[in-house]
Amino acid sequence: MSNISMDTIDITGEAPLEEPQRQYYYMAAAKKKIGEASKKLGRPLTFCVNTFGCQMNARDSEKLVGVLEEIGYEQADSEQADFVIYNTCTVRENANQRVYGRLGYLHSLKKKNPHMMIALCGCMMQEPHVVEKLKKSYSFVDLIFGTHNIYKFPELIATALDSNRMVIDIWKDTDQIVEDLPSERKYPFKSGVNIMFGCNNFCSYCIVPYVRGRERSRNPRDIIREIEALAADGVAEIMLLGQNVNSYGKTLETPMTFAALLREIEKVEGIQRIRFMTSHPKDLSDELIQVMKESKKICPHLHLPLQSGSSRILEKMNRHYTKERYLQLVDKIRAAVPDISLTTDIIVGFPQETEEDFLETLDVIRRVRYDSAFTFIYSKRTGTPAAAMEDQVPEEVVKERFDRLLKEVQEISRETSSRLTGTVQEVLVEEVNEHDNSLVTGRMGNNLLVHFPGDASMIGKLCRVSLDECKGFYYMGTAIKDEG
Ligand code: SAH
Ligand code: SF4
Ligand code: F3S
Repeated sequence: MSNISMDTIDITGEAPLEEPQRQYYYMAAAKKKIGEASKKLGRPLTFCVNTFGCQMNARDSEKLVGVLEEIGYEQADSEQADFVIYNTCTVRENANQRVYGRLGYLHSLKKKNPHMMIALCGCMMQEPHVVEKLKKSYSFVDLIFGTHNIYKFPELIATALDSNRMVIDIWKDTDQIVEDLPSERKYPFKSGVNIMFGCNNFCSYCIVPYVRGRERSRNPRDIIREIEALAADGVAEIMLLGQNVNSYGKTLETPMTFAALLREIEKVEGIQRIRFMTSHPKDLSDELIQVMKESKKICPHLHLPLQSGSSRILEKMNRHYTKERYLQLVDKIRAAVPDISLTTDIIVGFPQETEEDFLETLDVIRRVRYDSAFTFIYSKRTGTPAAAMEDQVPEEVVKERFDRLLKEVQEISRETSSRLTGTVQEVLVEEVNEHDNSLVTGRMGNNLLVHFPGDASMIGKLCRVSLDECKGFYYMGTAIKDEG
């Protein structure tokens, strides 16, 4: 996925200063080193990329894999590899704990394999207290870098290969977007596409703006060019990624709305499905609703994080909408796209949340009847305004509310999920079923899974499938033969 050939790069001279040429120079240099090491060992060197967190991190990891393969590493199926990298998340405290926990295990592997290199990157590394702790107690880690300089991965790995000390490179922020680096897609037929980076919203509980920096939109021409290349490479479905896609384009030299971008993407031949996430309710425009209504490719699915149903708490969260405005928005969307599937994120136990506030959240859930909802227990993030708020809710109260919320969400989700029973829907086939290889598994536009008789030749194709039976959160179906 690049238009620069590494074979023509001269690595006897100085590294070029401009990007991405500089990174291609370092890839060529690293490739030479890896080749020599592998010759000495008499086996290929292997890597493992372990990803935590959101779709943004998943997409970043594809870029890490792209670079590692380009420089001659082969993918291992476990962490018993020569190069292991964790792409970390810090949105909630338990994500951090998992990383620290696993590092102990990596250390034991490294003691057995002296060639092993351990690297850490991603959102957690943008927190100074994390890096301090790693320096002090995890000195066996070879390379640490952050979210803003991930494009520099080739240069950093080349440096780490030459060094016996821990290499650390963390940037506070950046306004740079470097295009045209390699990436290796996890699926041949679908792909994430970054349309913007960072976040400017500063919801008071959230660490993301601090670790991902200010909002930056990619140039629409670069986005379209990437999507055209993906389509030419057999991709049928794309997921446009950003922390708040509804504010896409505001900071561009020539501003452009997200709706206008979608109209352009719709024109790319070969792309059959368009998804996006995440949509902040405060910025969801009438223009976007109109585009969703008219589009033949945008999936009838909207992830619209609610966070809380209490206007009082929403204000403290700095979300810039009220319960009423959120509900009006849902009505407006449903009027335009009647069978749309709505999903959401909810936080329980935000500081000062009372039983009344919580009941407001339950009320919204009952009214909207989400197809599914991700529910989170509030996690205090150092440095965010909410962490300093008084009246943090006691743990046992939060747990009790969380259990009630989950029960309600699941009951509703089971009912709404089954509403398509007996209809025929388009399904993009993703894989042969893991448990029964006479079946294939695919996804509908609304994101639900369907299992139906088929074979590997159908992977990556859109099929019309009759939904025979709903089994809670997925369907069993039968493919409809095309009349021609
Ligand atoms: N940009 C997206 C969300 C990114 S984080 C948006 O605004 O919708 C994904 C989800 O994690 C959030 O929607 C929120 O529900 C949850 N989350 C973020 N910070 C959290 C915290 N401190 N504690 C618990 N959940 C949190
Ligand atoms: Fe976090 Fe809010 Fe930005 Fe989403 S919009 S990433 S919740 S600050
Ligand atoms: Fe986590 Fe960073 Fe995503 S904190 S949720 S990986 S933006």
